Amino acid sequence: MQVTNNVKEGDHIIIFLNKRKNWLVKAEQGKSFHTHRGLLNFDSIVGLEYGSSISTSLNENMWILKPTIYDIILKSRRLTQIVYPKDLGTIAAWTGLSPGKIVVESGTGSGALTMFAASLVRPTGHVYSFEIRPEFMKIAEKNIALAGLQDTITLKLTDAKKGLDITGADIALIDVGDPWTLVQPMWDALKGGGIVAAISPTMNQVEKLSNELLDCNFVDIETLEIILRNIEARSGKTRPAMRMIGHTAYLTFAHKALKTDKD
Ligand SMILES: C[S@@+](CC[C@H](N)C(=O)[O-])C[C@H]1O[C@@H](n2cnc3c(N)ncnc32)[C@H](O)[C@@H]1O
Repeated sequence: MQVTNNVKEGDHIIIFLNKRKNWLVKAEQGKSFHTHRGLLNFDSIVGLEYGSSISTSLNENMWILKPTIYDIILKSRRLTQIVYPKDLGTIAAWTGLSPGKIVVESGTGSGALTMFAASLVRPTGHVYSFEIRPEFMKIAEKNIALAGLQDTITLKLTDAKKGLDITGADIALIDVGDPWTLVQPMWDALKGGGIVAAISPTMNQVEKLSNELLDCNFVDIETLEIILRNIEARSGKTRPAMRMIGHTAYLTFAHKALKTDKD
């Protein structure tokens, strides 16, 4: 099967000038895009191969790139703290997020983790995401539509503490301030051996969460933190960047164990 690598009418594309100046825009014929470095007409962009460069009206070179799911997440509207890519990658590896998996999540927030999970489980899997606040759910809904992931995600406006109307899920994702309150509802939603991943900014949360995971019959409980250091690569003076993100969140993982007669 030949997959086209050319910009189609209506595609979301990245117009890239440099790391700090780049834009996620919709390529629509008959329309143009204005930047401080000149104007671009989409008529001359639709049909181009991704990776092509194009000159603005002020003769500045820019590149046409295909957005990744994280580009879309970063350019989406956000009212809540979103999950960083270093943490997303670890969550994907630890939980085995992949096509066909059924995922339950709470809370949706801006939908960043929801969209990331959906991009990995599609086309046959699904993400059911629970959010308590309607104003966040509305934003998540818009972000999900922008990413074109609405067929893979079902949003539910409800307090996940009260229980989830899902059973047999492969993966449960928790990103709320009081994660321990969602351990039992997630145990109920998961299939035997299913994996829970929780994102907690503080150690106090991790302690309470881990105790609750033990009490609720989860096993193989592990918490970790990913430290990321950027490297500035320059001829003859390559070294770590002076600044770094000191902390984002602790990641806690565990498997659902089935209860025995002894429990
Ligand atoms: C830190 S944000 C989640 C951010 C999200 N992971 C993202 O990547 O965009 C936490 C969200 O959980 C929601 N929340 C908190 N407790 C909840 C509950 N019991 N049930 C459903 N949603 C809840 C909050 O309203 C908030 O939107």
